[in-house]
Amino acid sequence: MQALILVGGEATRLRPLTCNTPKSMVTVLNTPFLEHVIRYLSGHNIKNIVLAQGHLSKPMEDYFGDGSRFGIKLTYVLESQPMGTAGAVKNAEQYLEPTFMVLNGDIFTDLDLTAMLDFHKARQAQSTIALAPVEDPTAYGLIETSSGGRITRFLEKPSWNQVTTNMINAGTYILSKDILKRVPAGTPFSFERQLFPQLLEAGEPLYAFPSNSYWIDIGTPEKYLKLHRDMMRGEVKGYQVVQGKVVKIGQSCNINPETQIVGPVVIGNNCVINRGVKLFGPLVLGNGTVLGEDSVVDSSIIWANTQLGMKVTLNECLIANDCLLENNTTAEKTVIGDHVTISRNSKLGPGSRIWPPTLTPAAPGKR
Ligand code: GDD
Ligand code: MG
Repeated sequence: MQALILVGGEATRLRPLTCNTPKSMVTVLNTPFLEHVIRYLSGHNIKNIVLAQGHLSKPMEDYFGDGSRFGIKLTYVLESQPMGTAGAVKNAEQYLEPTFMVLNGDIFTDLDLTAMLDFHKARQAQSTIALAPVEDPTAYGLIETSSGGRITRFLEKPSWNQVTTNMINAGTYILSKDILKRVPAGTPFSFERQLFPQLLEAGEPLYAFPSNSYWIDIGTPEKYLKLHRDMMRGEVKGYQVVQGKVVKIGQSCNINPETQIVGPVVIGNNCVINRGVKLFGPLVLGNGTVLGEDSVVDSSIIWANTQLGMKVTLNECLIANDCLLENNTTAEKTVIGDHVTISRNSKLGPGSRIWPPTLTPAAPGKR
């Protein structure tokens, strides 16, 4: 079986983390998100993978190459302009098998793809769409079904007064290549707003595959942080971790032995943790993180090569690569892009987003 992963979106809701990094390459437990997805697909024996790329394609190619390092075959298909979800698949048509899967590139799930494929074959379906229950369907594509499991209605991003079910399009499809005949070439086209409703209108057999599997779209800072929290607390199959324990410390770290650590915490390679630091999980420190004396980091994700000065306090923050947070900075629920310097004594948040490169004005006080 072959899978195409849609990795070309602009990821505006995750900015500034995604100013230089495509959404599929943001790290989760210090590993690119897409690597977690590829390992999941491999686990279902799906090793022929097409990446439908848009902007920021190079980081993926540099990391995954031809896929052989991960035991898979990777084909990259690049769009010259955003083609929309169905347009991106049309653009890759020449590489696709008669039946293939499509995955949104920002979904993490342990959905049983093998069972979904069996379901699709048993019904001789043309399209099967995985459904997931959510608390707030307004951020997703609502899907209504009949008692026989046939899809009866699509409603993308409904308002609350339009909500009739909590089941939404989970962003995993099994499709027959025939349906691409209905997608115009060279122009943006959407599965959710155009192709699927048109197939329904034409009476084609569209089936829903509902499940209660773990499911999350990492497209917002809150959800990106939640995936880490869930994985580290052992709520995601394959990521069993004991609450309260330090999970993992990388190589060549220099950690002051008196550091107070309340896990779960993942620490990358070459990290330096100075005297008096307190870490409260769930927390991830990327490779080369340096934490200054008496800093306190709580429930945050820090990517690679970021340095905190003395007495920096972070709570529920997301910090990209190569940042410097000078002494006495405090930040809460703040997202910081690459290469940002935050001047000493700054107070950020909740909800601040600092774009790269930014220098906040220095407040009076000692460094
Ligand atoms: N190649 C390419 N080109 N990929 C794209 C494009 C494009 O023009 N536009 C979006 N994508 C990719 C994104 O990178 C992402 O992986 C996926 O398609 C879905 O796009 P999002 O922008 O994340 O959509 P969404 O989350 O608002 O809604 C979609 O996902 C929901 C589930 O999370 C819809 O499919 C909803 O119906 C669904 O419920
Ligand atoms: Mg999404």
